Amino acid sequence: MTTFQVGHLIGSLAREAINRKLAVALTRLAPEHLTFSEIPIKDLPLYSYDYDDGYPPVARAYKDTIAAADAVLFVTPEYNRSIPGGLKNAIDWASRPDGQNSFTRKPSAVIGTSPGAIGTAIAQQQLRSVLSFCNSPQMNAPEAYIQFKLGLITDDGGVTNESTTQFLRNYMAEFHQFIVRVYTALSRDA
Ligand code: FNR
Repeated sequence: MTTFQVGHLIGSLAREAINRKLAVALTRLAPEHLTFSEIPIKDLPLYSYDYDDGYPPVARAYKDTIAAADAVLFVTPEYNRSIPGGLKNAIDWASRPDGQNSFTRKPSAVIGTSPGAIGTAIAQQQLRSVLSFCNSPQMNAPEAYIQFKLGLITDDGGVTNESTTQFLRNYMAEFHQFIVRVYTALSRDA
C-alpha cells in the first residue's frame, strides 16, 4: 500500500502548546501508511506581496515543504474565536505568489484542542473557509473538537483516556482513507 507523507502545521507558536501535544498524540495513533513531519511556521516573517518576486529563504523552504507533502494536517488552537494570526500568515505564504498556491488539490484535515468546552470549533470553521478558498480538498468528517484537560496528553504524546484514544485513532484512520480517496481521483503530480 502507498505511504503518504503528511506535513502537520501547529497553529500555536507557544513553547508548551497543548496543540503540539495533540499533534504528537495523533502521529502516534496514525495508521502505518502515514508518515509525519511538522512544518514549522514560527520563523516566517509577516507576508506581503512585496515578497512575491523573491521569497526569503525561510519562506521558500517552508513553501517547498508544503508543496512536497502529500497532505496537510492542521492542529490549531482558537484565539479570540478565530485561528491564530501566525497560522493565517503561514497559509498566506503558501498560497502565493498568485497562480502558485501550494494548497491547491492538496488534501487536508483540521483538528484542535482548547480547555474550553467547544474545543476550537469556531476557529476550525474559519480555517475551513480559508482552506476552501485555497482549493484544498478537506476531510469533512469526522469533526474533532478536543476539550483539553490537565493530564489528558502526556509530554511524549500518550493519551491517558481510552475513549479519546479510540476517537483520535479513528480520526487518523479516516484521514488516511480520505487521502487515498483524493489520490484515487487526482494524480499526485497534478
Ligand atoms: C485564548 N484561548 C481561547 N480558548 C478558546 O477556546 N477560545 C478562544 O477564543 C480563545 N482565545 C484566546 C486568545 C488568546 C490570545 C490566547 C492566548 C488564548 C485559550 C486557549 O485555548 C489556550 O491558551 C490554549 O492553551 C491555546 O492552545 P496552545 O497555544 O497552548 O496550543
